[in-house]
Amino acid sequence: MSVQSVTLHNGRKMPLVGLGSWQVTSPEECKDSIRAALDAGYRHIDTAFAYQNEAFIGEVLQEYFKAGKLKREDLFVTTKLWITYHERERVSKCIDESLKNLQLDYVDMYLIHVPVSMRETGKRMGLYPVDENNKPAFSEVPLVETWKGMEQVARAGKAKSIGVSNFNMKQVELICKSAEIKPATNQVECHLYLQQEKLFRFLKERGITLTAYSPFGSPARPANLQKEGAPRVLDDPVAKELATKYKRSVGQIHLRYLVQRGIIVIPKSTNPGRIQENLKVFDFNLSSSEMSKLASQDKKLRFFDGQEFNTHPNYPFGEPL
Ligand SMILES: NC(=O)c1ccc[n+]([C@@H]2O[C@H](COP(=O)([O-])OP(=O)(O)OC[C@H]3O[C@@H](n4cnc5c(N)ncnc54)[C@H](OP(=O)(O)O)[C@@H]3O)[C@@H](O)[C@H]2O)c1
Repeated sequence: MSVQSVTLHNGRKMPLVGLGSWQVTSPEECKDSIRAALDAGYRHIDTAFAYQNEAFIGEVLQEYFKAGKLKREDLFVTTKLWITYHERERVSKCIDESLKNLQLDYVDMYLIHVPVSMRETGKRMGLYPVDENNKPAFSEVPLVETWKGMEQVARAGKAKSIGVSNFNMKQVELICKSAEIKPATNQVECHLYLQQEKLFRFLKERGITLTAYSPFGSPARPANLQKEGAPRVLDDPVAKELATKYKRSVGQIHLRYLVQRGIIVIPKSTNPGRIQENLKVFDFNLSSSEMSKLASQDKKLRFFDGQEFNTHPNYPFGEPL
């Protein structure tokens, strides 16, 4: 199976399909899914400091390197800077932790996970630090400061490419104005019901790729992100019809639509069959009328709206819809 790649502005190649790993925190489940993905031909893995699974991924990578089944240079690993490390001098601390966990000397892509910074208080609610009144412990590190820290880790060779995640156009523009190294990608929620065409075009004009997270609309997202009565992306009737026509799964139609637009996708699965299936999207084409029909299914429906950050000055996430 040959997996197509996009060429980033710095000439590096990023495979168009990668394996997502959010909410995969059980060590065995995580390791088995990474093995299944590598065996199926995946060479791109998406993780984050916050996912708490980097160490399990690192173990499997070592296993494959030692067995001669995989070379470091054939692999594309993305991880992300956590929210409490946004100060310029703390960026390298976070990536050092990630590299230690992953047992790697460098990652291929390092992203600012969210455009919101927080301070450690020693007290948490869920993932996020809270103050003495149980309110989110926000801090206001300017995004350009964080970007300078990102550039430092890139110059130090700890990240081959750097980018952002959950940034809107204004925030991307702000970074680009003072950047010495431009972001290579913006990883955002993107699927049939949130197609991000405007953001995609804006990024493309600046030589920045778009990576689609939750390409299936994250059907297993946590309860606080469920929206009462919201349609399920995987139930879309047009995609279902095309799945029948092409004798493909509905998931493959969703992924094909995105990669055919030139968007990088990082579907998460821990099921070996679906892991394999999600990579097999390079041996068929949707016609231009089918692409248009799918384009017209956009509902501008955002599941990850960053509500938990709604009192931070960098709220809201993404473009106003
Ligand atoms: N930067 C960010 O802030 C951010 C936010 C969210 C996600 N992400 C990244 O993006 C990745 C993907 O997003 P996501 O995990 O939210 O959701 P997703 O990839 O849209 O959906 C994953 C869900 O779909 C199921 N699934 C996988 N393949 C399928 C197929 N072919 N047909 C039907 N169902 C299928 C999976 O179940 P099984 O496992 O049982 O197959 C899982 O429940 C994450 O894992 C993470 O790496 C980044």
